[in-house]
Amino acid sequence: MNKAVSLFDVERVRADFPILREIVNGHPLVYLDNAATTQKPQAVIDAIVHYYSHDNSNVHRGAHTLAARATEKFENARAKVAGFLNAGSTEQILWTRGTTEGINLVASSWGRSQLKEGDRVLVSAMEHHSNIVPWQMVAEATGARVEAIPVDGTGTLDMAALQNMLDERVKMVSVGHVSNALGTVNPIQDVIALARQVGARVLIDGAQAVSHWPVDVQALDCDFYVFSAHKVFGPTGVGVLYGKRELLEAMPPWQGGGEMIERVSFQGTTYNQLPYKFEAGTPDIAGVIALGAALDYLNQMDRAAAVAHEQQLLEYAQTLARQEPGVTLVGEAAHKVSVMSFLVDGTHPNDVGFLLDQQGVAVRTGHHCAQPIMEQYGIPGTIRASFSFYNTMAEVDRLFAALRKAREFF
Ligand code: ALA
Repeated sequence: MNKAVSLFDVERVRADFPILREIVNGHPLVYLDNAATTQKPQAVIDAIVHYYSHDNSNVHRGAHTLAARATEKFENARAKVAGFLNAGSTEQILWTRGTTEGINLVASSWGRSQLKEGDRVLVSAMEHHSNIVPWQMVAEATGARVEAIPVDGTGTLDMAALQNMLDERVKMVSVGHVSNALGTVNPIQDVIALARQVGARVLIDGAQAVSHWPVDVQALDCDFYVFSAHKVFGPTGVGVLYGKRELLEAMPPWQGGGEMIERVSFQGTTYNQLPYKFEAGTPDIAGVIALGAALDYLNQMDRAAAVAHEQQLLEYAQTLARQEPGVTLVGEAAHKVSVMSFLVDGTHPNDVGFLLDQQGVAVRTGHHCAQPIMEQYGIPGTIRASFSFYNTMAEVDRLFAALRKAREFF
C-alpha cells in the first residue's frame, strides 16, 4: 500500500486498485463511473478474503474464539466510521445496507412517529430518487407534504427560495451533500443554519461526498448523515446512518428480529440499546470490516492532494468539453465535485455510452435516478463521467478521443 505523499502520485495509487489493469473490449479500462460505485483497493479485497478465510463467525452471539474475533473487528469498524465522521460516539453509527436504506430508516422511524397532517418535508429538486420517494411514502401515510427546493439552470440550489419556503410547518429538510447527477456541492452548512431557524431537522445524503473529503458531523450539526460503503472504496451492501443520540433514542425500532431486542415475551418485548435497536438480523460482517479497511486506506492518503487532483481532472475535462463542437455540459455550478454530465448533439446518451464502452471507457448514461431534475432541464438524461483520484489526465484524453470516434457513427 502506498504511503502518504504530499504531491499526489496517481500511478502509485493506481497500483493499489487491481481492476484498473482490466482490458475491456480490447482496450485498457478507463473507469469513469465512480459516482455509481468506486473501485476497491487491494487492502479492501484482502480484508474480505481474510475475514472469510480466518474469522468467519456471527457477531455478538457465539461463545467461541472466532465469534469474539469477528465481533471485535466488526465493532472496530464502527469506531473507524465514528472517527471518519467525527461522530460523538460509536452508538450513533448504525449499519444499514446503504444510503437508500439509511434514508428509508429515518423516513419510516422518525418520519412516521413525528410527521402529521400539514407538516412539510423539503428536499432539493436535484435529489436522487432515494431522497425523494421514502419521504413521499411517509407523506402518504401521515398527511405530510414533500416539496422541492428549486435549483437553477446551472444546477445550483436556490438558497433564497429555501429561505422563503421555511416556516414552522417544515419539520425536515433532507438534501444531498453533493448531487450525483450534476456534481453540485450544496452549501449544507447554510442549509442546516436556515433549517434551525424554524426548528426543522436536517438529513444530509452524503453518498457522493465522502469519497472526496472528510466530513465532520458535529461541526455540521446535522441531525442525520447517511452514506454507502461502496461509494467510498468499500464493498456493496453496507451503509452508515449517523444520527443525533437524542433523536435515535426517541425513534421507534424499524425492523424487528434478533439483536434489536432486550427481552422478548408474548406479554411484550423490550428493545436493545443503541445502536443495536436498529440492527435486526445478521449484518454484512465482512462488508463492515472491509469498510473499515477502506477508511484505513483513505486515512493513510493525502486527501487534500487527492481532491486537488480530482479537481484538476474535472477542470481539464470541462475545458475540453467546452471546446468540443456539439458537446453541452449539464450542471455548471460554481462548486462541484469531479462529476461531468453532458450531452452530445444529435445523439441519445445511451447510444454514446454504448460506443464509449466499445472503446473501454466506462461512463453512466440516463437519468441517474434523478428524474425530476432531468425533467426540469427537458432532457431524458445525460452522459456522466465521474472521476476519482485514481483517474489520470491521459484517461480524460481517452474519453474525448473515444467520443470523437463515437460521433462518426451518427
Ligand atoms: N446513485 C448512483 C449513481 O449516481 C448509483 O450512479
